[in-house]
Amino acid sequence: MERVTWFFLEYLICCTAAICLTMAAQTKLNITTDRSALLVLKARITSDPQNMIFINWSTTTPICNWVGVTCGARHHRVANLNLSYFGLTGTIPPELGNLSFLVNMDFSNNNFHGILPQKLARLRRLKFISLGNNKFMRVIPSWFGSLFKLQVFSLFGNQFSGSIPATIFNLSALQKIDLSDNQLSGRISREIGNLTMLKEIYLDSNNFKEIPNEIGTLNHLEKLYVQDNALKGPIPMTIFNISSLTIVTFYGNNLNGIIPDNICQNLSNIQGLNLGANQFNGPLPSIFGQCKQLLRLDLEDNSLTGKISREIGNLTMLKEIYLGGNNFEGPIPYEIGYLPNLEEVGLSENNLNGHIPSSIVNISTIKVLYLGQIEQLNSPIPYEIGYLPNLEILALHQNNLNGHIPSSIFNISTITGLGLSFSQLLGSLPADIGLALPKLEKFYAGANHLSGVIPKSISNASELRSLDLGGNSFSGYIPTTLCLLTNLERQKAVNSIDPVTSTCELA
Ligand SMILES: *[C@@H]1O[C@H](CO)[C@@H](O)[C@H](O)[C@H]1NC(C)=O
Ligand SMILES: *[C@@H]1O[C@H](CO)[C@@H](O)[C@H](O)[C@H]1NC(C)=O
Ligand SMILES: *[C@@H]1O[C@H](CO)[C@@H](O)[C@H](O)[C@H]1NC(C)=O
Ligand SMILES: *[C@@H]1O[C@H](CO)[C@@H](O)[C@H](O)[C@H]1NC(C)=O
Ligand SMILES: *[C@@H]1O[C@H](CO)[C@@H](O)[C@H](O)[C@H]1NC(C)=O
Ligand SMILES: *[C@@H]1O[C@H](CO)[C@@H](O)[C@H](O)[C@H]1NC(C)=O
Ligand SMILES: *[C@@H]1O[C@H](CO)[C@@H](O)[C@H](O)[C@H]1NC(C)=O
Ligand SMILES: *[C@@H]1O[C@H](CO)[C@@H](O)[C@H](O)[C@H]1NC(C)=O
Ligand SMILES: *[C@@H]1O[C@H](CO)[C@@H](O)[C@H](O)[C@H]1NC(C)=O
Ligand SMILES: *[C@@H]1O[C@H](CO)[C@@H](O)[C@H](O)[C@H]1NC(C)=O
Ligand SMILES: *[C@@H]1O[C@H](CO)[C@@H](O)[C@H](O)[C@H]1NC(C)=O
Ligand SMILES: *[C@@H]1O[C@H](CO)[C@@H](O)[C@H](O)[C@H]1NC(C)=O
Repeated sequence: MERVTWFFLEYLICCTAAICLTMAAQTKLNITTDRSALLVLKARITSDPQNMIFINWSTTTPICNWVGVTCGARHHRVANLNLSYFGLTGTIPPELGNLSFLVNMDFSNNNFHGILPQKLARLRRLKFISLGNNKFMRVIPSWFGSLFKLQVFSLFGNQFSGSIPATIFNLSALQKIDLSDNQLSGRISREIGNLTMLKEIYLDSNNFKEIPNEIGTLNHLEKLYVQDNALKGPIPMTIFNISSLTIVTFYGNNLNGIIPDNICQNLSNIQGLNLGANQFNGPLPSIFGQCKQLLRLDLEDNSLTGKISREIGNLTMLKEIYLGGNNFEGPIPYEIGYLPNLEEVGLSENNLNGHIPSSIVNISTIKVLYLGQIEQLNSPIPYEIGYLPNLEILALHQNNLNGHIPSSIFNISTITGLGLSFSQLLGSLPADIGLALPKLEKFYAGANHLSGVIPKSISNASELRSLDLGGNSFSGYIPTTLCLLTNLERQKAVNSIDPVTSTCELA
């Protein structure tokens, strides 16, 4: 005690106050300080169900051997503290601010809560901090702005509210900021344009109102996630200047205006573009065939109009396209069948007309085909659709499809969801339906002109959860074997003959 006091006096005599404090602090901090800081942290843990640290962080072993702790080779101080997925409940003590050599601090996916102590602002070497998926709330502390070496700043999945403190926009080394899944609001400050090293921005699932045009100056930006916020008005056009962008998602906002024609002129690296669930209107960009790298395009649930251009056939990398819930008209372009990697197609709820293009049967990669609620789709179903070897979901409900259901459909052994209800379809169900479609989970064929008997084998589709065959002209009985399907939501299994519930009670 006396020695320490003497130490202080010595410094007080020979230093100016500011330098003195720094030197005193540095003199005192060593691996022993780190040890006591971590022991205070351990004492603040109230629950450690996986027994990650309660036993392992033992006072009889050196802290550099403790789980989650890594020390620097040269200075022998704690450099990394990674408690990610330890399942801990507890609070963060101010003593952690003494880990002055800490570079990475990953506390993500635990149940830490309470106040974030201001003393953490002393972690001047920190480059990575993640407090994601914990239980922190109230405002984001402004002292984070003093961690000036920070490259990754990650607070996703907490309950932070208020706006992003201005000090954050001083963190000029920042490469990734992840504030998704909080209750943040307000406008994003124009100063975000100062963070020119930024590569990834995640602001999704908050209540942000506005993204400033200055974002267009971030010329290293690769990923921009702003879905499920409260953005209004037109999209900041400057975004379409950032040629480094690979993923942009604005899904689930209130954005309006048209989608710029030359969207892919500058976004030549774009792989994922998601502007779905907004209020965009006008036509598809006229030359979007230039988006050569595009893997996923989602423009569903807007007010887009016009035809789906044949240029779609130029997007040869495309795996997923969702254009449902718009006002597109005209035919489904034949060229869609030129897309050799397509896995998911969503065109439901549009004013399209004509027929299902036969070219679709050439896309052997296809897994999901949503073509429901297109009332003017009024052809027979192409027979070859049943030859698609990977099809999992085929939704053709609420159309005006006519003719017989091709028997090939009841032969797609990969199918899990089959929607054929509310059309003009004829035919019967094959006797071996449940054996031929072993993965079937949802089967809707109600409100058509189907006839015949309901095959007993339907109960061999043991995954069946939802079944609707009502509003047809089936005859005979509902097979009692249906009662063997324990996952079936019985109330949905009604038919024009008899509710299945009573059948099962009789059985
Ligand atoms: C850490 O510093 C204290 C004095 O501040 C000293 O007593 C102790 O021996 C030091 N520990 C190590 C491991 O250097
Ligand atoms: C603590 O965990 C580390 C890393 O898993 C392990 O190497 C060490 O032996 C453990 N120590 C004790 C005392 O269990
Ligand atoms: C922390 O550990 C997890 C694995 O448990 C790892 O995925 C993560 O990248 C680590 N964090 C840092 C900053 O290295
Ligand atoms: C570490 O931090 C705590 C709280 O911030 C402080 O009380 C303590 O004196 C610091 N220094 C050492 C050597 O533990
Ligand atoms: C940003 O940093 C500068 C220089 O360190 C400082 O003067 C300024 O107050 C900081 N601004 C904010 C908003 O923190
Ligand atoms: C930050 O951006 C603002 C406006 O965008 C600008 O006036 C200011 O000079 C920038 N600050 C720094 C430190 O670059
Ligand atoms: C795109 O950037 C150029 C300069 O690189 C600038 O002149 C132009 O105004 C920007 N366009 C938009 C829409 O921001
Ligand atoms: C594309 O980039 C050029 C040059 O950087 C710029 O002038 C133009 O405005 C950009 N186009 C769009 C749509 O932003
Ligand atoms: C689309 O492909 C066609 C034929 O392959 C070609 O003539 C046309 O220029 C392409 N369009 C764009 C925008 O690349
Ligand atoms: C399927 O592809 C083959 C070969 O590319 C082509 O000859 C055939 O016309 C295509 N079928 C349909 C229905 O588009
Ligand atoms: C069903 O598939 C089998 C085997 O792939 C095939 O032999 C049979 O012709 C198919 N039946 C129909 C109706 O397409
Ligand atoms: C089909 O279901 C029936 C009735 O549940 C059962 O007796 C029969 O063994 C099943 N067949 C196969 C191949 O699973």
